[in-house]
Amino acid sequence: NWSMQNFIDMEVEKIRDLVGDKKVLLGLSGGVDSSVVGVLLNKAIGDQLTCIFVDHGLLRKNEGDQVMESLEGKFGLNIIRVDAKDRFLRKLEGISDPEQKRKIIGNEFIYVFNDEAAKLDGIDYLAQGTLYTDVIESGTATAQTIKSHHNVGGLPEDMTFELIEPLNTLFKDEVRELGIELNMPESLVWRQPFPGPGLGIRVIGEITEDKLKIVRESDAILRDEIKEAGLDRDIWQYFTVLPGFKSVGVMGDARTYDYTIGIRAITSIDGMTADFARIPWDILQKISVRIVNEVDHVNRIVYDITSKPPSTVEWE
Ligand code: XMP
Repeated sequence: NWSMQNFIDMEVEKIRDLVGDKKVLLGLSGGVDSSVVGVLLNKAIGDQLTCIFVDHGLLRKNEGDQVMESLEGKFGLNIIRVDAKDRFLRKLEGISDPEQKRKIIGNEFIYVFNDEAAKLDGIDYLAQGTLYTDVIESGTATAQTIKSHHNVGGLPEDMTFELIEPLNTLFKDEVRELGIELNMPESLVWRQPFPGPGLGIRVIGEITEDKLKIVRESDAILRDEIKEAGLDRDIWQYFTVLPGFKSVGVMGDARTYDYTIGIRAITSIDGMTADFARIPWDILQKISVRIVNEVDHVNRIVYDITSKPPSTVEWE
C-alpha cells in the first residue's frame, strides 16, 4: 500500500535512525531535486542540516537570489551561500571537451563542499538529490555511461562523508509529487529541471563570461515568453544553447557577423526519452525577434527539432 505519505514517513524515520545526532550537509542547487531533499531532511532532522548553495557562476539569470528567497526565506533552511564563480571559471578556462567540463564542474563542486564542510564542525553525511534516472544513466548499474551526470559518483578518494540519497528510487514526476506532499510551493515544485553543470554545458565548447552572458540573457527571454504563453507546464524543459560559431546577418544596412542561439524545448516524462515541443510558430517568432533585438552579438536563432534518442536533451 505505497503512497507518497508513506514514503515520507518511512524516509523521515530512516533518516533519523541513520543520522542520530550527527550532522548532514546538503548541496542545494535550487532545483526541484535538491530542494525536495532539503525540505525532507529539514522535516526529519531540523537544524542538524546545513545546506550549501554553491553559486558556480553557471546559474540562470537572478537564480541565486531566487533560491535563497524561496528556501531560506520560506522554509527556514539553514543555507550558506558560496560565491565560487571565479574558482569554477578559472578551472574551466581553455577546456572545450564536454566530458572534461562535466568532470571539472562536478569535482569542483565536491571540493567547494569539502572546503565549506571543513569550516563547520563535525559533518558526517553528505545528502544529494540523485534520482533513479541519474543512477541509470551514469552507468552505476550495468547500463553504459551516456554522460557523467555530475551528481553521481565522482567523490574524491579522500572524502570522509557518507552519502544520503533519499530520492534515488524515484523518477522526476514522483519527486514533484513528493514536493507537493511536503507543502512546497508549486513554483518550486514545477521548476523545470536544470542540470548540475548549469550553463556550463549550454555554452558549447570553451566557456567564457561573454558567452555565458549571451546564454543567460537569451534563456531569460525564452522563459519569459514560454510563461507568458502559458506553456511552462506542458513543456518539460526549455532553454537556449550557444553553439559558439558565427554566421553572417544584416541589421539596418550593416552586415553582422555574430553568434547563433539554439532553442531546445522538449516534452518528456522522466528525461530518459523526449520529443521536441511543438511550440506555435508565432510564439517562436516572438522569442526569436526578442532575442536578436535584446541580446548583443546574436543574429540568428535555430530551433532544435530532434527527439531523444537519437539526440540527448542537453547538447553536451
Ligand atoms: P540528457 O542531456 O542526458 O539530459 O538527455 C536528461 C536530463 O538530465 C539533465 N541533466 C543533468 N542533470 N546533472 C543533473 O542533475 C547533470 O550533469 C545533467 N546532465 C543533464 C538534463 O537537463 C535533462 O533534464
